[in-house]
This record gives sequence, structure tokens and C-alpha cells, in this order.
Amino acid sequence: MNDQTPVTEVKAAAVKALPDAQTVTEVHHWTDRLFSFRVTRPKTLRFRSGEFVMIGLLKEDGKPLLRAYSIASPSWDEELEFYSIKVQDGPLTSRLQHIKVGDEIILRPKPVGTLVHDALLPGKRLWFFATGTGFAPFASLLRDPETYERYDEVIITHTCRDVAELEYGRQLVEGLAEDPLIGEFVGDKLKYYPTTTREQSPKMGRVTDKLRDGSIFADLGVPPMTPDVDRAMVCGSMGLNTDMKVILEGFGLREGANSDPAEYVIEKAFVG
Ligand code: A2P
Repeated sequence: MNDQTPVTEVKAAAVKALPDAQTVTEVHHWTDRLFSFRVTRPKTLRFRSGEFVMIGLLKEDGKPLLRAYSIASPSWDEELEFYSIKVQDGPLTSRLQHIKVGDEIILRPKPVGTLVHDALLPGKRLWFFATGTGFAPFASLLRDPETYERYDEVIITHTCRDVAELEYGRQLVEGLAEDPLIGEFVGDKLKYYPTTTREQSPKMGRVTDKLRDGSIFADLGVPPMTPDVDRAMVCGSMGLNTDMKVILEGFGLREGANSDPAEYVIEKAFVG
């Protein structure tokens, strides 16, 4: 490349030179606000189910625009899956929502995060509390045999505005028992608790209200949460996370971290 190189060639060379480019292998649009996609996995990438990485696209100026995304696929999967919101004026998702099979995205292979088994002390019943795209890290953990090896019972709650927004999670959960790789680990350990807040469905309302009034325990046939038995992972909006912290601590659970495991962990879902 020299000063005479046409601009278009410079851009193409810059993309090819990116060490962290991965190829899109699948895209699924669930609603006008939600989509999931799969990309090739760098051979050297090792991660713990529930962790996130930085992914994104190149900006006009050739610099990367990256955001934190939970990996939705389990650690044994040959590819990587992500579950994303589409924000029409969002800097990244306004463009990311248009990716097609064969396109390249940038992926920094440095997984981190607190929604991991190592951040929780051993327990008997594991709760996953998600709203919206906060389901993504649990899509990974629900497909990880370790989840069922560690716990006698696993409960996934998912609160969305309407029924269509539950679909990605519903299909994943309903496919687990029949899955040739994970089905036998799941057995009858998993309970699914979907709720909607803005469209009629069998369970209406925010999961937080159902925890406060205790109706979720009656619905699921389990006793109220205690720090001896229950562990929890939370992923959703800022509001959910703030409210859940108060609720879980009200049940006597303490927040854990990789360096100091305890009874629950929280992470904000990607939002823009
Ligand atoms: P609501 O419709 O009552 O706001 P969003 O699509 O805005 O990310 O929201 C996803 C889901 O999370 C919606 O059903 C929304 O309910 C719910 N939600 C928002 N804030 C909270 C909260 N603080 N606690 C529980 N659920 C919440």
C-alpha cells in the first residue's frame, strides 16, 4: 500500500487485516426488535458458559465499534451464538441487524463476566432471572451439562413485553429435553416460567412482583428462596437488576463474584 492506493482498496485491506474478524453463518429475526445470529468461533477461544465478549463492526472511519455481548451458545458448541435487540438509532445495532450470512463481524476473544458457576457457592436449586435479551447468557448455561450436574433443580424465568419476544427462549427450552447432547443431563430438572407484561399470556406480570407476593413459588410448587438451598443469576435491564438485588437480599442471599463466590450474581443485559 502506498499514497497512490485508491481509498476503496485501503478499506478492503483494513478489513482483511483485522485479526479478530469472524464470519456470520446464520441469522434469525424473531421480531422487529429481536434477532439472533451465529458466527465462526476462533479456534483458540475458550470461555465459560455465561461469559460475554466484545463484538461489533467497523465504523466509517475504519475504527471498530464494539459492545459487550453475552455468548448465547454453550462452551462445547463449534460456533458462537448471540441474541440481540435492534435499536433503530443505536450506534451498533442499527447496522448489526442487517448482517447476512457470509458477512464479517469483529470479535475480541477475551471472555469475561460474573454469570458463571464459579461465582456461586454450591446449592440445590439454581434460578435464572431474565428480561428481554438478558436471556442470552442463560441460553448458554441452559445448554451446559455442568448446570445440571451441579444442581438438583434449575428454574428459568423470562419476562418480556409480549409473547413473540419469548419465542427464542421458548424454542430453546422446549428443545432441551430432546437434545441428543444435553437431554439426558436435563432430565426432569428444568422448570420454565415465562411471563409477559404488555400482551395477554398464561402468566402476566413482572417476575419481581411474583417474587414479592410469593405467587411464583406457589405456581412452581417450590418453597420460598433460602440461602441454604437457592442460588440465582440475574440478567436484564437496570431496573430489573436493581429490584432483584433488593428482593434476593431480602431472602438472605448475598452477591457473589469470581473472586468471592456467594449465593447470587447479576449482570446488565446489552441494551443499544
Ligand atoms: P414492563 O412492560 O412492565 O416495563 P424491555 O423490552 O423494555 O427491555 O423490557 C423487557 C421486560 O422487562 C418487559 O416485560 C418489562 O416490563 C420488564 N421489566 C422492566 N423493568 C423491570 C423491572 N424493574 N423488574 C421486572 N421486570 C421489568
